[in-house]
Amino acid sequence: MGSPAAIVFLPFDGHAGRMSSARRVEQLTIMNDAPIGVFDSGVGGLSVLREIRALLPSEELLYVADSAAAPYGDRSEAFIRQRVEVIGDFLTGLGVKMIVVACNTATAIGVELLRAKHSIPIVAMEPAVKPAAALSRSRIIGVLATSRTLASERFARLADAFGRDARVILQPCPGFVELVERGETDSPRAFDLVKQHVSPLVRQGADTLVLGCTHYPFLLPVIKEVVGPQVTVLDASLPVARRVQSILQSERLLAEREGPGTEHFWTSGDPQRVAPVIAKLWGRDVEVEPLSPQYSVPADTAGG
Ligand code: DGL
Repeated sequence: MGSPAAIVFLPFDGHAGRMSSARRVEQLTIMNDAPIGVFDSGVGGLSVLREIRALLPSEELLYVADSAAAPYGDRSEAFIRQRVEVIGDFLTGLGVKMIVVACNTATAIGVELLRAKHSIPIVAMEPAVKPAAALSRSRIIGVLATSRTLASERFARLADAFGRDARVILQPCPGFVELVERGETDSPRAFDLVKQHVSPLVRQGADTLVLGCTHYPFLLPVIKEVVGPQVTVLDASLPVARRVQSILQSERLLAEREGPGTEHFWTSGDPQRVAPVIAKLWGRDVEVEPLSPQYSVPADTAGG
């Protein structure tokens, strides 16, 4: 299957005034029943997709795991921008009514570009620094994210706006994304790596941790085991899903189909390798399709 057969999207053509009202209603319904496109550097964005699914059972959800390019955190800004643009083109080509950038790194580097290029709503990630600052009693917050996210201007503005009266400790976590990409979320190696990156934050007095990468919620049971019950761990997947819901409501774009929506998965990596990992994290077997060559990671930029 190249694209979901059931999805038909007729864009508004500016001649609505001349259409019969029945035709207008039909177009509106098609727009409402258009899918939502969600993407990440790999499987991490499934942590956001599952919250969207839980809140919006009737929506058709398209998910792209850019696995051939993961981890974005190790890539140049130019490379990440290019991937964001290409995947945005792929999803809009399928007629999505909204794009969710389920990746903090892609948000930090590329969301403006996506918003400038497309007129549909674009929902993006924001590490939960604001709620963490409101919750922390010790006034010491640890933010776990990729180095790219932590070094971005976007993150600096967020930390400046909401982390003023708290000490915000920034913690890059090399290796976490790779663990989740392998579906290795509860191994002794995962425990050791989490301990190595997270324990120092608790030793420095952090009582609230922010998961600023969408892969990290899949390590939450291990993180909780390492930090213990006294430390609060926040991530932004549910708030982002709520934002998706509230925009669809206010734009009157909620799906109107009867019955549940389905999910469709693509990857720029090897579907044979990615499908079992998605199945493990998503909780059921899934079909994963390869992105066609025009949307794949070009071999000459593979190290970008
Ligand atoms: N899930 C991505 C994020 O939220 C992971 C980044 C990466 O691929 O390095 O930042």
